[in-house]
Amino acid sequence: MSVFKYAFVWNCVCILIINIHPTTSIENELSECIIAGPGIIPNRVVLPARYFFIQSTGRCNISQAELAVELKGKSEHGPCRIWTQILDRHDGSFIVRYKMFQYCDDMEIHVTWKGFHLAKSPYTFKGRIYAEACDCPLDSIDEMIADYQCSTDVAQIDNDLSRFHNVDFSQVLSEAIKRFSHAGSYSFCHYVVLSNKIHRRCYGQHVGFNMFMDNILLSLSRKAILPDMEFLINLGDWPLVKKNVVPIIPIFSWCGSTETADIVMPTYDITEASLECMGRVTLDMLSVQSSPEIRWENKQDKAFWRGRDSRRERLNLVKLSRRHPELINASLTNFFFFRDEEKTYGPKEDHVSFFKFFDYKYQLNIDGTVAAYRFPYLLAGDAVVFKQDSEYYEHFYSDLKPNVHYIPIKADLSDLVEVIKWAKTHDEEVRQIGANGRQYARSHLLPKDIICYHATLFKKWSQKLKNPVRVLDQMTLVKPSNSTDKRLGSCQCVKKISHMEL
Ligand SMILES: *[C@@H]1O[C@H](CO)[C@@H](O)[C@H](O)[C@H]1NC(C)=O
Ligand SMILES: *[C@@H]1O[C@H](CO)[C@@H](O)[C@H](O)[C@H]1NC(C)=O
Ligand SMILES: *[C@@H]1O[C@H](CO)[C@@H](O)[C@H](O)[C@H]1NC(C)=O
Repeated sequence: MSVFKYAFVWNCVCILIINIHPTTSIENELSECIIAGPGIIPNRVVLPARYFFIQSTGRCNISQAELAVELKGKSEHGPCRIWTQILDRHDGSFIVRYKMFQYCDDMEIHVTWKGFHLAKSPYTFKGRIYAEACDCPLDSIDEMIADYQCSTDVAQIDNDLSRFHNVDFSQVLSEAIKRFSHAGSYSFCHYVVLSNKIHRRCYGQHVGFNMFMDNILLSLSRKAILPDMEFLINLGDWPLVKKNVVPIIPIFSWCGSTETADIVMPTYDITEASLECMGRVTLDMLSVQSSPEIRWENKQDKAFWRGRDSRRERLNLVKLSRRHPELINASLTNFFFFRDEEKTYGPKEDHVSFFKFFDYKYQLNIDGTVAAYRFPYLLAGDAVVFKQDSEYYEHFYSDLKPNVHYIPIKADLSDLVEVIKWAKTHDEEVRQIGANGRQYARSHLLPKDIICYHATLFKKWSQKLKNPVRVLDQMTLVKPSNSTDKRLGSCQCVKKISHMEL
């Protein structure tokens, strides 16, 4: 009887010892961390810089110290060359991003903290993982849209395209030339994509910005065989297609307005930042999330703004800032449009690094010639955005709600001072609006989202065309630039394995 009893006690002790064993415990805790994002499915999503997120949750609480990410695999001449960065978002989550310079076979991603694997690490992939420069397209854009989990239900795209059916493009082109090519005052290009080759002819004097369109089209054409299509893109700042001039012709623009009917696409700025992430561009939608940490309560509760003099309200803002230095810190960094007023509103001040903007709680988004293309970055940063009411919009504005994602201010800034005073006395509310804006940017404006928007837009647009497309005389074949060519060196495509098992 008593022997039995002791055995029972011993059993309990044994179980207890197993449960508090330190190794088992930390591994359990770290498995509760969440790892997610396109960079963790590199077999399905190809990006110039791939990225994924590590999120502390539940019992998993990690810090950047001793957080390690290792990517391994085989390439042509030995181990894969992959450049990795870990960005701290200062909220218990991290962005891991990495750039591959060639393909990588049998890749493994190890994410560890203090030497222990996090979440479901290690992640292993049989077969070939392509780099951005690999020209190994999927069979169709639909396949890409599925693999990338692109959203196909995009209200802005559907609205913009709803006007057009069975489009006879030769008529569109001749009408556009008639309306927009006089005196070289407009710049636009006609693109033709046929058998996944890109051709264009541009009209107007300042057509250098066509490189942005070339870059995104080339990038897409390496990822999937694009549908045959043709379209016009406006390279100028202002949207072109007046709603009251018929026929309404389809033209893609980087900025829309309530007065016009242009088809909006993500701006060249955020598109290029998405493609040149970990490349030529230092400010992108990922890097902006890791501005140096200043806790909310230590930020200055003032509105901060720097920019050039591209609209009268920006000058007025400087005037307001001088009258209310305790509320607004705003200066012009360049005079071009109102040079003769530099005496009054200058002298121009040095640039302030965008990352330093977030030393301040309140960020101002004031139009320039058109919408201020900094809005996505302001939303993604650790602050709250005060957005000027405006007729201009970018591709994502219709998703946003005033007083939910940003704080609205009047177009003439007449209520700005009052609204800042309100914000100073409603800190929790304001902080929450900042968090909502940031959450929106994190889930809708990252590089994959920008590439996806183009994929969905082009797919839907291609279905609107009536006639088969053809390459016209005087069109130029768009080729990858030299730097891409060099990286293409060692990128053989392998026959794709069916994704059915996913
Ligand atoms: C996570 O760890 C840090 C430092 O180790 C600690 O200050 C913080 O309170 C922890 N957070 C949670 C949610 O346990
Ligand atoms: C405005 O901001 C700049 C940059 O942070 C700072 O150097 C300057 O002192 C500020 N001006 C005022 C009046 O606070
Ligand atoms: C590309 O390379 C060729 C030959 O190396 C050179 O002649 C040409 O200028 C380069 N083009 C650009 C745009 O750099």
